[in-house]
Formats: sequence, structure tokens, C-alpha cells
Amino acid sequence: MTDSTTQDAGTGKHEAPDEARPDVQAVVLVGGKGTRLRPLTLSAPKPMLPTAGLPFLTHLLSRIKAAGIDDVVLGTSFQAHVFSEYYGDGSKLGIRLRYVTEEEPLGTGGAIRNVLDQLTADTILVFNGDVLGGTDVRQVLDTHRTSGADVTMHLVRVSDPRAFGCVPTDATGRVTDFLEKTQDPPTDQINAGAYVFRRAIIEDFPAGRPVSVEREVFPALLSSNRHIQGHVDHSYWRDMGTPEDFVRGSADLVRGIAPSPALGDRRGESLVHEGAGVAPGALLIGGTVVGRGAEIGPGARLDGAVVFDGAVIEAGAVVERSIIGFGAHLGPRALVRDTVIGDGAVIGARCELLRGARVWPGVTIPDNGVRFSSDI
Ligand code: GDD
Ligand code: MG
Repeated sequence: MTDSTTQDAGTGKHEAPDEARPDVQAVVLVGGKGTRLRPLTLSAPKPMLPTAGLPFLTHLLSRIKAAGIDDVVLGTSFQAHVFSEYYGDGSKLGIRLRYVTEEEPLGTGGAIRNVLDQLTADTILVFNGDVLGGTDVRQVLDTHRTSGADVTMHLVRVSDPRAFGCVPTDATGRVTDFLEKTQDPPTDQINAGAYVFRRAIIEDFPAGRPVSVEREVFPALLSSNRHIQGHVDHSYWRDMGTPEDFVRGSADLVRGIAPSPALGDRRGESLVHEGAGVAPGALLIGGTVVGRGAEIGPGARLDGAVVFDGAVIEAGAVVERSIIGFGAHLGPRALVRDTVIGDGAVIGARCELLRGARVWPGVTIPDNGVRFSSDI
């Protein structure tokens, strides 16, 4: 592959010997730019953002490991080095982890094709790297085996399918169409971003150029009458790609609504990490998480807040359903609701930031600098 570099961070071997050949290997796609989560994703790739105190990807990898799959390849592109610096060979998670980096993003299908020469199994699980889910991966594999499909796709039902891949199925659960982000979805059943492929199917993907598995590969497989089987369930599911979903998913992890083997039973109304200081009289509810070394002042009220490491929230400030970036600072009695505060930003006393506001890293807003009312 000319436009990629590979790195075997595991045993140093490029292929497992036959007797050790795993029957299932996993690929996680983590090369997206995470534009909808800017400015947080200017400094960290989306799957590495702290979620309930751990990089989001740790929750997904721990779920893959819990399903008995311990050989995983990450398809990286944007900020690829962040993943390998943090996870190394994967041994701390009890898995063999390797990385294949696209110099230019190859799209979801191109990324899957690009990692193929690192894989030996006939059954290949592929995950989007930004889905917080609770599906039983072994059951998806069982559906794949019993249906004899070329591809098995995890499907969930959502109230608004327009932001996803809409996937109608027939009475036997076989996929009949794949409509990526259609304004007129024929069903509320969507692609949940986890697939099982027969290896031979991936071998036929176009190589060496950008390919979308959703817009190109799945429609082409269906029109050549390949068997794509749906596996529908009612497990917890959330794409973490927007601030609203990120905040909600993090709170659901903290409260134990979303499963994660990486968190064990550390669940409750809030999660405060070591080295953080919470003053008496501060209220932390709604699945709030406070990162390492962060400081929360007296009388502050945090409801569904995601406070990254080293942030400071002063006395009487209110934070609702918002993300406070690394080392950011909220002044006394600031109000932040449905907002993203970038790393190191300073929000002055009594400022109000509401409804989708995004403050870029390092920006300073003076005391009383932004208000939604005239009384100060
Ligand atoms: N390696 C690599 N290279 N990874 C990529 C690339 C690329 O060029 N482009 C995207 N990815 C990764 C992203 O990092 C993410 O983990 C995953 O592929 C999906 O990309 P998103 O950008 O998050 O797509 P989406 O959320 O709009 O839609 C996808 O996910 C939905 C479910 O969450 C589609 O697969 C939809 O059909 C699906 O419903
Ligand atoms: Mg996504």
C-alpha cells in the first residue's frame, strides 16, 4: 500500500502463526476529523476525548476485549500519533493493538481496505470509533454465522434517522437498501456503525483511493445481490459526534445507564477524579464528571457537566450539559448551558453562554462580557 504506513506495535511479527491465527479480528475506524466537536477536536482526535474520565476509545476497546476479541487494528489518519502514544501495543488493555495510518484520509471503506494486509482472520469485525454502545458483540457474530451472510450490520432504531445510514430490511432481516443520510428515510432503522465482514468481501473493495463504505460499498454489494444481514437490537446506543451527544453519553456512562467494562462499578450521580478539589457546598449532579486536578468552587452547581483535567470553576458558577476544556477557567457566577468551552479559555465573572455557544481555545471573555439579560 503506497499511501499508508504500518506499525506493528505488538509482537514485532507481521503475521500470527497459523496455530495462533485468531478466528475474529477487529478494526476500529478512528481517522475522522471530528469537525462537529470543534474546538475540542482541534487538539485531540474525537475518540481520545475524555469521557467519564477515560479516552472514549477505551470504553469501546474494553467492550471488544470483553467479547473475547483481543487482536485489534486501529485505522488512523488525523492526529494518528495520539493513539499510539497513549495505547502503545495495547498490553495494558490486554489486547494486541496495531495501527495503520492513512497519510490522506481514505474514507471509511478505504480505511477498511487499507488495513486488510494486517489481518489474517476470515471474519472481520469493523467498528466506527465514536459509538457508545451496549450491543452484545458475540450475538452479532452469531447472526453472521447462522445467516451465512457476506456482511452483517448492527442496526438500531432512532427517533430521527436523517443523520445516519437508513437501513430497511425484509421479513427475514436481510438488508434491502442502504441510504446514507437521507432527508426522507423510509424506516427508523439505522446503521449502528458495527459490521462483520467475510474477508473476501473486503478484498474486493477498491484499493488505494478514498472509498465510503456507506455511499459506495454497501449500495454496490446490494445491487450485485450480495447478502447483507441486519442484526437489530435494543441495546444502549449513541453516536458521540456532536456536543449534545457527547455530554449525554458521558453522563450516561457516569450514571451507569451506558455500559462500559472499563468503568466497572464506579458509577453514580457524579465522578470526581483524583487530584480534583470540590469545595463544600458545590453541587455535582446529572452524571457530572470532574477531571484530574480540576477545582470546583463553593456553591458552584454542575448538572451534566463534563469538566476536563485542570479546569477551574469558581464560586457560584453554574454549568449545565456543557463541556469545559482542559485548563479552562470559569469566573464567579458564570452561567454556561449547552456550550463547549475550548481548552484554556477564560470566561469572566457573571458571563452567560447558552444554546450551542462554542468558545475557541485560549480566548478570554472579560467579566460581564457576554450576557443574555440586561441586569448585572
Ligand atoms: N481511518 C479513517 N479514515 N477513519 C475514518 C475516516 C477516514 O477517512 N472517515 C471517518 N472515519 C471514522 C471516524 O473517525 C468515525 O469513527 C467513523 O469512521 C464514522 O465516521 P463519522 O464521521 O462519525 O460518520 P457519521 O457518524 O456521520 O456516520 C457514520 O456512523 C453512523 C452511526 O454512528 C455512518 O457509518 C452512518 O451510516 C452511521 O449510521
Ligand atoms: Mg459518527
